[in-house]
Amino acid sequence: MKKNISKINRPLKGEITVPADKSVSHRAVIFASLANGKSVIKNFSKGKDPLASLNICRALGVKAEYNDDLTIISDGRLRSPKEVLNCQNSGTTMRLMAGVLASRNFNSVLIGDESLSKRPMKRIIQPLTLMGADIISDNNHAPIKISGRNLYGINYTSHISSAQVKSAVLLAGLNASGRTVYTEPSLSRDHSERLLKYMGANISVEGNSVTIEKSELKPCDIEICGDISSAAFFIVSALIVPNSNIILKNIGLNPARTGIIEIAKKAGADIEILDKHEVCNEPVGDIRVKYSQLKGFTVKGEIIPKLIDELPVLAVLATQADGTTVIKDAEDLRNKESDRISCIVSELKKLGADIQETPDGFIIQGKTKLNGGCEVESFHDHRLAMSLFVTGLICDNPITINGFEWVSISFPEFEKLFTNVTKY
Ligand code: S3P
Repeated sequence: MKKNISKINRPLKGEITVPADKSVSHRAVIFASLANGKSVIKNFSKGKDPLASLNICRALGVKAEYNDDLTIISDGRLRSPKEVLNCQNSGTTMRLMAGVLASRNFNSVLIGDESLSKRPMKRIIQPLTLMGADIISDNNHAPIKISGRNLYGINYTSHISSAQVKSAVLLAGLNASGRTVYTEPSLSRDHSERLLKYMGANISVEGNSVTIEKSELKPCDIEICGDISSAAFFIVSALIVPNSNIILKNIGLNPARTGIIEIAKKAGADIEILDKHEVCNEPVGDIRVKYSQLKGFTVKGEIIPKLIDELPVLAVLATQADGTTVIKDAEDLRNKESDRISCIVSELKKLGADIQETPDGFIIQGKTKLNGGCEVESFHDHRLAMSLFVTGLICDNPITINGFEWVSISFPEFEKLFTNVTKY
């Protein structure tokens, strides 16, 4: 689907409630499926990725009713699936489910779409195999064939900071004999640790190490906060469209996810957190954002996992910040739904940005007037499609985004919500 975007001539104003956090939605449905009893999940994401996790839980014998709330009824024991399990575009589904399935008493096969089949799976196959898992892959890519085995705990130090890898190992450890200790170089999102603890798992955290032992999860009611990664497109739009002033309601403020706020504030952004409180072991609050004059910024090192999904839209922000912006240590961005380094660089260049690709990031000179007036590609990547939409708002000439339908992977409501804050 092609989407035409023209320069916006009015500010963003008002309140926005963005949809549920994608990462927490995956975990809520998967963990509830592992508990014996009834769990009610409020505000489950309607994105295609979390729905892929839900469908797989159903294929494993879990009962799920999805009206306003998602009700999960399980005995905690999954059943042998009749068919291959399709993770579609969702890396989180594939990696977390591999951790769950490795210790079951049946065999299963995880497949994905073209993009997911190209993404690296060695990062989970290696630690799970060390725990005793029997996994056959296509040269460390999907399809992943798992023959369920009894697993044993390991002490594993990862060379990358990935919440998907960490969660796969923790989920395997939840059903393995002995103790599993997982250490990562810098903290990645810790939604799994928080929700596992909330559901009664024997789990503890010390610095960047997590220890888990075999435990039963208790069914529970889970309320999912708004997704800061979806809010990011509104945060950046409000910062670059003159006179904007918006409030994003009920957003997850997990410190392992708020890198975008830290960096934007350092760049001079007028951002304020209101009404901070806790819901289901996760910090939540409102974010007020006003149009701001920005200066170039540097993003590197430990903060990278805290804003990894926001880097494409931060590149858009950097085109409107005075001076040089440097993004480095972000090589894993090449392993996402697309190679997000080369793709965002090529598309922003077409629109007139001064941006250079580096092996582990990019360098941007701002502030630049963007000409637009051409077609750009989403590369079947939801976050690129939305980042380019935001760029279109400030281009002098209309742009066309090819493959805009991919936004439904995480944020099917994106355009409708955008209209609400621009047509008041
Ligand atoms: C996610 C972790 C991150 C992130 C992805 C969601 C998760 O991936 O990019 O969108 O829910 O655990 P990595 O763990 O590969 O860094």
